[in-house]
Amino acid sequence: MADDLSQTNLDALRNAALGELDAATDDAGLEAWRIAYLGRSGKLTAVLRGVAQLSPEERRTVGAAGNQLKALLDQRLGGKRTALETARFGNLAEDAIDISLPGRPVAMGRLHPSTLIVREITDIFRSMGFQVVEGPEVELDRYNFEALNIPKDHPARDMFDTFWLDANRDANGDSTMLLRTHTSPMQARIMEANEPPIRVVVPGKCYRYEATDATHESQFYQIEGLAVDRGITFANLKHTLHEFARRLFGSERKVRFRCDYFPFVEPGVDLSIDCFSCDGTDPHCRICRGAGWMEIMGAGMVHPNVLRNVGYDPNEYTGFAFGLGPERIAMLKYGIEDIRLFYGNDIRFLRQF
Ligand code: DAH
Repeated sequence: MADDLSQTNLDALRNAALGELDAATDDAGLEAWRIAYLGRSGKLTAVLRGVAQLSPEERRTVGAAGNQLKALLDQRLGGKRTALETARFGNLAEDAIDISLPGRPVAMGRLHPSTLIVREITDIFRSMGFQVVEGPEVELDRYNFEALNIPKDHPARDMFDTFWLDANRDANGDSTMLLRTHTSPMQARIMEANEPPIRVVVPGKCYRYEATDATHESQFYQIEGLAVDRGITFANLKHTLHEFARRLFGSERKVRFRCDYFPFVEPGVDLSIDCFSCDGTDPHCRICRGAGWMEIMGAGMVHPNVLRNVGYDPNEYTGFAFGLGPERIAMLKYGIEDIRLFYGNDIRFLRQF
């Protein structure tokens, strides 16, 4: 039997071939290997060609062993090819996507109802010539109270249940910092930093340390308004707020001003609009509860002490101010019965807006 056709040599050829195949790392390596062993003048091809010269019995055994080896190398080549592809592209069969499946909708977020009503309200004032300004939620006692004509021990402080901060204390050990209880402190900050004429609205979050119920939350929005100039009168206040109410609630709305007390305005008023739901005819009305009127904000002429506190001369300048709660207005507008829904994170509530 020819020497290179012995079983030992076939084994050596097999070991060498499989070792080299193992070492191949890319398509070019695979192809070089295929040519070296299985190509037209490849090593195994030469062996198989030699079989023809053998005696008939040898042909049978050696031919069979040679063909077996060829089948093995073909199979291993295929396996290696798949392994390299998987390493490069991942498992194509498993990762295949069915392009005939319907697409999945992209989940769209939406704006929070408080954000929506704040924007709607500030847009109305912006269109009337007011600038939109924001201020700090962590505020000084000096702006939240003192500058607004609410000195220490003033009974009006009881109107505001305050979250005090530990950060700073005065000589008496009293805290000087708080979470603002209203947006009114921005009146003082704006006047301090600017000369009249001033026309601003200030939207922002406020905080109160109180037991929550259907009409009280410890976190809520307010929008403050302030107009200061020479010759501003209560008539300007009435016109501005009436116009606002009509734009937000409809042109047939009536407004009512009643005396109210806030330390930073004189005179002070609360503003109501007539009930758009029942016109005051339904004692069980969800919106006005039969009163026919709904309070929507506090307002008034800026108190001379407040003007003095920021260095303005009250004989030269006058102004009006107002403050409203957007969540309360959204509750009236949309018939929402519990203010706690705004921050309750119930997606079914939030999705409605
Ligand atoms: N700051 C008041 C509050 O939180 C609301 C308010 C009333 C603001 C009258 C004003 C105003 O500017 O003139 O209850």
